[in-house]
Amino acid sequence: MTSFGNLMPNRPKDSNPRASASKIEIAKHLVNWFRENARDLPWRRTLDPYGIWVSEVMLQQTQVKTVIPFWEHWMREVPTLDALTNLPEPRLLKLWEGLGYYTRVRNLQKAARQIGANLNGVFPSDPVQILELPGIGRYSAGAIASIAFGQAQPLLDGNVIRVLTRLHGICENAREKTTLNQLWALATELVTVAETLDKKPRQGARLSAGPCSDLNQSLMELGATVCLPSKPACPACPIRQHCVAAAEGLVDRIPDLGKRPAATARRFVAFVAESNHRVFVTQRPTGGVNVGLWEFPNIEMGNDEAITSPMLGFIFDPTGKPLLTIKHSITRYRITLEVFPAKLQAGKSSQLAGKWIPKAELHSLAFTSAHAKIRTKIT
Ligand code: ADE
Repeated sequence: MTSFGNLMPNRPKDSNPRASASKIEIAKHLVNWFRENARDLPWRRTLDPYGIWVSEVMLQQTQVKTVIPFWEHWMREVPTLDALTNLPEPRLLKLWEGLGYYTRVRNLQKAARQIGANLNGVFPSDPVQILELPGIGRYSAGAIASIAFGQAQPLLDGNVIRVLTRLHGICENAREKTTLNQLWALATELVTVAETLDKKPRQGARLSAGPCSDLNQSLMELGATVCLPSKPACPACPIRQHCVAAAEGLVDRIPDLGKRPAATARRFVAFVAESNHRVFVTQRPTGGVNVGLWEFPNIEMGNDEAITSPMLGFIFDPTGKPLLTIKHSITRYRITLEVFPAKLQAGKSSQLAGKWIPKAELHSLAFTSAHAKIRTKIT
């Protein structure tokens, strides 16, 4: 099923001679372009699989410019698999504070311990073993195998999907299994032909494990800097002459990513209770999300539900102006968090298990990102 109806009538997949003519030419253009134009990113100055793995996990759900300072700090504080294996959990969470999606960092430590226990503490180069590590999917395994070890292993993320669907004029929904299989096959072909290209181990400050690494990173880099979702810089593209979407005026219509399910609105109320320069905070329990992270006491409300005092054992003025209102989106939720100054009800302890922490010490704890904003506001 094509998404464009008879705009793209019955053209067999990848039948365009410009696209299929020369995979090797395309790979050459991509690799040469990357060698000239790669951004100088800190994890590109190393071939240490540990550092490359950490960067790929951070980059799974976070943008490059956010990741840079986190990666640099992490590599100073936790420079080896051994250091990660032995890192106490509060420190682990604190180092990840601001990146979110904390399952990633827990899996990172689980994987480090697994490597210590089963693989003599040596990061595996075998793609099958890399894929078996907690938190590693097909994309990350391909990235680590190619970037750290120079192997001809494919990768496919959002940026690469955009480049390959446009290059080949693939109009079908890129989230569908059959299209994804086709894209994995195309990514595999490209990285396989790249293996025959010349090596260039150092390019300025950048280190390279070889042409397969450069090819895979060229696809990511092209998607991030040139082949943009809207208003792509086609004149600057090294494979423009091979691009079906550019030739057929379909750049604005490819990729077809289908419809995302609409985000669900959720509303929370949180309380800042202060006493003697101490603030009441709670730690998220096991069994939910963000386990072990700190936050201000809070409760989910219905979207139209009235806020009345007391609540959770806190007295506050529900008609007063909130201390702040935070709006943030996480996975498929659009969250509004209203924060009220509050006092613990006289003669009652809070209904929540929590701690009175000196204000000055709040910064040593790892808070969820929305609640870190509350902490910034009150300290
Ligand atoms: N996104 C995912 N992996 C990346 C990498 N190694 N460099 C830049 N952006 C990326």
